[in-house]
Amino acid sequence: MTLCTFDYHGCNVFVAGGTSGINLGIAHGFAKAGANVAVLSRSQQKVDNAVADLQQYGGKVLGYAADVRDADRLQVVFAEAHRELGFFDVLVSGAAGNFPAAIQTMSSNAFKAVMDIDLLGTFNVLRFSHAYLRKPGACVINISAPQAFLPMEMQSHVCAAKAGVDMLTRTAALEWGPSGIRVNSLVPGPIAGTEGMKRLAPPGKMGADMVAKSVPLRRLGTPEDIAQAAMFVASGAASYINGAILPVDGGWSLGGAAELGRNLLAMVGKQDL
Ligand code: NAP
Ligand code: COA
Repeated sequence: MTLCTFDYHGCNVFVAGGTSGINLGIAHGFAKAGANVAVLSRSQQKVDNAVADLQQYGGKVLGYAADVRDADRLQVVFAEAHRELGFFDVLVSGAAGNFPAAIQTMSSNAFKAVMDIDLLGTFNVLRFSHAYLRKPGACVINISAPQAFLPMEMQSHVCAAKAGVDMLTRTAALEWGPSGIRVNSLVPGPIAGTEGMKRLAPPGKMGADMVAKSVPLRRLGTPEDIAQAAMFVASGAASYINGAILPVDGGWSLGGAAELGRNLLAMVGKQDL
């Protein structure tokens, strides 16, 4: 399948959590299409590596070490990125944490860590970038997960957090639509080679094959699949799409995704918790 080409020359794209995996793939997509790109994550090393990698396309690239839980730091970062780039045409909020853990054994702080990164972090990213979003015209993309609408064993923290992310998407779409800002969620399916897959899928090639078989399209997704969807949603072709929760998962959430919880149980050697 050939990839679509998009033209984002002259556009400014901010990707929160954009230094690895799916979100870095999205940053690559936009940078390759000509955009100036800023990425943010906690690890200075990951930020430096991502910036060096994204510079290959020739646009401006900025990187910031910051935690999405740190509202004060985010305010400084967004103001600085705005000074360097101008108004943001696209904002992606994708920082997240995940690990398999059952309700009765997970600590309150473990549950809170994921709520704080995924949900409060997305709120902070939206709240403190708003002044710097182009009005009208900006597109915000929150990165959700099938757990937002499918309960999965050992994923209560992620289910609760991502359900909240999708409601933030829908609320922000209502509040910001009148000023010409569209807000949508992308819901990736299982994406090959990512930290999320490493943490949740059974290990090794056999595990990846097992997950791929549970996808109606019979393959794992790639970061490019999600980047293509992000570039479509941010484009003029999607100018009337607002408040949508868009699965980009090969149909996985129609059924196969429910198997993941069972796979997680198998990984910890249990049939039931
Ligand atoms: P990943 O590589 O671990 O990406 C997470 C990114 O967020 C990294 O750049 C990480 O960098 C950053 N980050 C984590 N905590 C942060 C914090 N507190 N503040 C700022 N940045 C933070 O994982 P991924 O698997 O590609 O997942 C990316 C997104 O896709 C997530 O939103 C995830 O829920 C979603 N998703 C993934 C899959 C999948 O198959 N992988 C499926 C559905 C949905 P630092 O460590 O430097 O902070
Ligand atoms: N199982 C159960 N609890 C866990 C856990 C696991 N695998 N990993 C961490 N925790 C608990 C910790 O024990 C701690 O709880 P405690 O204080 O009661 O002991 C709590 O979670 C917070 O852990 P901490 O390491 O301080 O959090 P952090 O903010 O440094 O890191 C995480 C956040 C835990 C989500 C970490 O895994 C992370 O940084 N993830 C980012 C990458 C990622 O998950 N990518 C996939 C995205 S789909």
